Amino acid sequence: MERATSLVVGDVDDLAPEDMRRLVTEAVAASGPLRGGTIAGVFEHPSMRTRSALGVAAAALGATPVFFTGDEIGIDTREAAEDVAEVLARHHRVVGARLRRHATFERMAPRFAGHQRPFVNLLTDRAHPTQAIADVITIHEALGTLEGVRIAWIGDANNVARSLAKAAGALGAEVRIAAPAGFQFSEADMAEIDAYLERAGRARGAIALFDSPTSAARGADVLSTDVWVSMGEDPAKRSAFEGWALTEALVAEASDEVGILHCLPAHRGEEIEASVLDGPHSWAFRQAGHRVTAMVRLLAFLVDRAGSGSIERW
Ligand code: CP
Ligand code: NVA
Repeated sequence: MERATSLVVGDVDDLAPEDMRRLVTEAVAASGPLRGGTIAGVFEHPSMRTRSALGVAAAALGATPVFFTGDEIGIDTREAAEDVAEVLARHHRVVGARLRRHATFERMAPRFAGHQRPFVNLLTDRAHPTQAIADVITIHEALGTLEGVRIAWIGDANNVARSLAKAAGALGAEVRIAAPAGFQFSEADMAEIDAYLERAGRARGAIALFDSPTSAARGADVLSTDVWVSMGEDPAKRSAFEGWALTEALVAEASDEVGILHCLPAHRGEEIEASVLDGPHSWAFRQAGHRVTAMVRLLAFLVDRAGSGSIERW
């Protein structure tokens, strides 16, 4: 469903497909539109890449980054999430948040919309849109297009997979999701993804679900995976993923020129073989580098849309 405001990015489908396309293909000259202002980053979970990219993007836009951990704010323990949002929206020109629960993001979002401030999801249990934009930028850089590119996701159909399916599917890729029983996309996930792909003009069937890693990997141009236990999840879940690692054997099933994606952090020897992550097919560190490309482009786009380029009066 489309959101009333276009300044809140809870997932990829908050961006119009044509805006997604621009973010992937068009470089921006960020000439300090937020000079004198701040960008806040709220992190209820640990982060390296996302927090770092937010800091770099702040510098590119001329803003000073201000970081908070979940503990020091105490969202819904020290004070209500809505109150936190109301105050941050009054202080900062842009706010990003990595939150344990997507529902908390949704409760905070209207406060930012009310103040015409961009509010960006920096990972929740449902979605990781800034990662997905980096992923499609990486694929586009390597292959020159997403059109017809066969992407196989191997492992847990999680937050990162959901956002990637939307982003890559909207840009014309054929996305195969291979996950063990119980960890595959739900019908509701598929309905949400298909709705976005429909907005992008894609026919149904661009996203296909598989119950075997080998059949999903066959002939793929890109293989992608992620940890088996996401932040905040029960480690007991791991036992369901035996036989689901991204191995050399799966790489051998894919196209000769296959590229390997992993959003990182990775566990070598668990969800991905070390020789795959560190091998000649790996794009994982280019992908990590493009977290900055994606963050700068997205924030520049939202700041421009918010029309908040002028220095404020105090
Ligand atoms: N991929 C990613 O989001 O990394 P961090 O958790 O380190 O930010
Ligand atoms: N799926 C992982 C991604 C980490 C960047 C998690 O949510 O922990």
